[in-house]
Amino acid sequence: MVDDKTLVAEAISARERAYVPYSHFSVGAALLDAHGKIWHGCNIENASYTPTNCAERTAFFKAVSEGVVDFVAIAVVGGAAGEPISDWCAPCGVCRQVMREFCDPQNFRVLLACAPDEYKAYSLDELLPQGFGPDNLERAACNHEHH
Ligand code: THU
Repeated sequence: MVDDKTLVAEAISARERAYVPYSHFSVGAALLDAHGKIWHGCNIENASYTPTNCAERTAFFKAVSEGVVDFVAIAVVGGAAGEPISDWCAPCGVCRQVMREFCDPQNFRVLLACAPDEYKAYSLDELLPQGFGPDNLERAACNHEHH
């Protein structure tokens, strides 16, 4: 079993691979899947700016592209590149929406950390209340059939 502390430590090491020549803000993520495997992610920036991918989405897209779609938790750390983490780094709205696609809002846990033993845990529902997800489209399709 992967505990919270381990997941945060993995996010801290994932951050070392961040490619951030423009913002100089490096982010690391460690995504725990339902099989107990950890997927690492870092942010990857681009000279054209908008193609930038956040650390959280890097981790999700690596996992999903390898056939994994069941997740338990993600740890996220971020801060000025080359410096130790000194503040919480909360996932951006786009990353929260990507989590909503694959994770149960009540059960999926998001750990925001400054150090392995200094973290705050939230459910996805707390970070993305009243989110729009796959179930909304399923209900709409169902209603359509009945009319
Ligand atoms: N970033 C992440 O990777 N994850 C977050 O949770 C917040 C923002 C990245 C995007 C960009 O490369 C840099 O941080 C500054 O916005």
